[in-house]
Amino acid sequence: MTVSRLQGIAPTIFGVMSTLAARTGAVNLGQGFPDVDGPPEVVAAAVGALHGGHNQYAPGPGVPALREAVAAHQERHYGLRLDPATDVVVTTGATEAIAAALLGLVEPGDPVVVLEPYYDSYVAMIQMAGGVRRPVTLRAPDFRLDLAALRAAAGGARFLLLNSPHNPTGTVLTGEELAAVAQVAVEHDLTVITDEVYEHLTYDVPHLPLATLPGMHERTLTLSSIGKSFSFTGWKVGWATGPADLVAAVLAAKQWLTYTSGAPLQPAAAYALSEADAYPRRLAASLRERRDLLCAGLNAAGLPTRAPQGTYFAVSDIRGLGWPDGLSFCRALPERAGVVGIPLQGFYDSDEGRHLVRWAFCKRPEVLEAGLERLAAADLTYGR
Ligand SMILES: Cc1ncc(COP(=O)(O)O)c(C=O)c1O
Repeated sequence: MTVSRLQGIAPTIFGVMSTLAARTGAVNLGQGFPDVDGPPEVVAAAVGALHGGHNQYAPGPGVPALREAVAAHQERHYGLRLDPATDVVVTTGATEAIAAALLGLVEPGDPVVVLEPYYDSYVAMIQMAGGVRRPVTLRAPDFRLDLAALRAAAGGARFLLLNSPHNPTGTVLTGEELAAVAQVAVEHDLTVITDEVYEHLTYDVPHLPLATLPGMHERTLTLSSIGKSFSFTGWKVGWATGPADLVAAVLAAKQWLTYTSGAPLQPAAAYALSEADAYPRRLAASLRERRDLLCAGLNAAGLPTRAPQGTYFAVSDIRGLGWPDGLSFCRALPERAGVVGIPLQGFYDSDEGRHLVRWAFCKRPEVLEAGLERLAAADLTYGR
């Protein structure tokens, strides 16, 4: 029964693997959600909003306090000046911002250049918008941007869907790489949608929003959300920022998707952005330690893994263990070792990711240690 525009899109692997983890009692290093909530005072702000009469529809573009807090955040952190009335729209997580941006901007048949491996909602939403994805592969083991491939893919395209810090590889694009992206975008007159949900989760490298580069503000829609920066992935409060015409296109689609997003969580998200600004820095410092713990343990268990520069994911190469691919490895792992990871092959059009598996390190150190102990104790070689 499902329509053709949804065909060929597999159920999200994150849901599949989390269900497997729950069923088998495995340590879930698959899906990227923290196992400790964000700041209690932000939760208190949400409770206050629930008791304080914020329970009916919020304005379509978002409550003014959150739009103002997002604009102030962009100016304080990046020097980007936005008009909260026209240049910010609140969405139901970055997920809805991605959906509304693509549905609101992409015409059927439009080529959309996208970094591969891609976050899985990009594929589904490009397809639902009628666009045609043009992958630019970040190749293992260092997952850097291939500028020649980007230039080749940009010819005749209208859109670039960028993601830095990049899920799942952890790549954070450098100033030089972003300058080259900007040059390509200007040369080919691309509109860029840039997903920066991991903007605060970088380790020893800065995150530079593409919109800060010369010539980019007017052609860039920037997406982010409260989920990763403040450890509230279940709140699903996100936003899109940029020039008024691009933001209006997002709103034009968003109003028919959800009309408006969770009213009591919006003032609480505004509180987080303006009053709990130190939290993401502390979170990044603690994640850096957990990254090192996880990567050291994976390497010791025979899973070569490079420390990522951003996000809370690390990617292992499983070829040394003899498995035909990451999917069969990940399917067998809960029973073999009592651990769940995410195979990357579904995030590529090509075969480039068959040997790659992603692990999330946004879990408490004792959970990471338990997972690593299990991996160390298990025989992980194929066909035992
Ligand atoms: C790259 C990327 N974009 C968007 C999202 C979704 O963000 P949200 O939970 O705010 O909808 C995620 C969540 O994992 C992500 O990794």
